Amino acid sequence: MSRSPIHLVSRFFDVALSRPLDPTERATVALWLEPKLFELFRQQPVADQRHAYRGAQVVVEAGREDLCPAVLMHDVGKRHSGLGVFGRVFATLAAYLGISGGNSFRVHNNHGPIGAKELEKRNADELVVEFAHFHAGERPESIDPETWDLLLMADSPPKPRALLSGR
Ligand SMILES: [Fe+2]
Ligand SMILES: [Fe+2]
Repeated sequence: MSRSPIHLVSRFFDVALSRPLDPTERATVALWLEPKLFELFRQQPVADQRHAYRGAQVVVEAGREDLCPAVLMHDVGKRHSGLGVFGRVFATLAAYLGISGGNSFRVHNNHGPIGAKELEKRNADELVVEFAHFHAGERPESIDPETWDLLLMADSPPKPRALLSGR
């Protein structure tokens, strides 16, 4: 697991403070995804949907709307852990400290490859499958460095100003 403690803290607040996508946001996601992937997207917890949507906005702002499916689907394997906010934090910390933990922790900390398998079964594009598989690790050969950097930025987008100022 290569993510920094800052990323972990940021994700904690993402999970704890997320609000569901509103109908307009859901409709926008439906435009970015094929129906077979949209169905999977909707199975994700609120926090993962919000995290993915915020990431998609980052790539759209960078002029790379083509990357939306990869961003929106990268954490789809996470839902299998069944962990809540604190469980996720403990699982991530356990991995960071090299502690194995129980099955839920293992699923959480292996959510990339787990999600990638699901996406592959649904014939998702190679980029979607590869980013889901490798997003917590090293860049695979199949993704060019510029695209990889943007995808990682989308996975750790800056916090909205309203959240930072407490509004
Ligand atoms: Fe992830
Ligand atoms: Fe993520």
